[in-house]
Amino acid sequence: MRKINIAIDGPAGAGKSTVSKGCAVQLDYTYIDTGAMYRALSLKALRTGTPLDDGEKMTELLKSTSIRLVGNPKVSEVYLDEENVSEAIRTSEVDSVVSLTAAHLGVREEMAVKQRRLAAEKSAVLDGRDIGTTILPDAELKIFLIASVQERALRRYKEMQERGKPADYEEIYEAIIHRDELDKAREHSPLKKAADAVEIDTTVLTVPEVISKITALAEEKV
Ligand code: C5P
Repeated sequence: MRKINIAIDGPAGAGKSTVSKGCAVQLDYTYIDTGAMYRALSLKALRTGTPLDDGEKMTELLKSTSIRLVGNPKVSEVYLDEENVSEAIRTSEVDSVVSLTAAHLGVREEMAVKQRRLAAEKSAVLDGRDIGTTILPDAELKIFLIASVQERALRRYKEMQERGKPADYEEIYEAIIHRDELDKAREHSPLKKAADAVEIDTTVLTVPEVISKITALAEEKV
């Protein structure tokens, strides 16, 4: 059977991580959460007082930082300098600054090397913003997940509540719009659908429905 990589891109809260993990479990693939890498670097910058809008300093910080993903699909963990930060990177504080981190070319180039290395052996599902356009332009299957802003905000709201975190729907709604705008407008590798990506609108689909659509497309490629 042919080994393939699956690129899953899309805006915040479109269901990429849940769906990507589900696909990875079903196909027995590695799950690579590229957003978690930008989140981990943002967390380190917040902790060390590094200015997130300074591209040179952020690139230097990344070069002296270890970010390790455990992508066995059943557990998806992120280690920052060997500390498990899987929970710590999912705060509204990190949400509000991560697009600054991700805008720097130097940071993106370093991340790209790491991400391509992780995907080199194929059989990986990568979830991000620029996987199909920049990181793996030759990925055998590219998906662009979208959903209405209302639905995406509602999902984030429920997710925060489930984790026992304070959540305000209006604030989440505004934050999602703001983050998408920054991710779409940035100069380097903006959030954009690859020309050969299959767009799936998840607004009215269940998670198992989306996973089965993607795994069916993957089966056609292997
Ligand atoms: O996917 P997640 O919401 O965790 O991503 C957090 C942020 O990381 C995004 O808003 C975006 O700014 C950045 N990101 C990116 N490129 C990727 C993955 C994430 O710029 N491939």
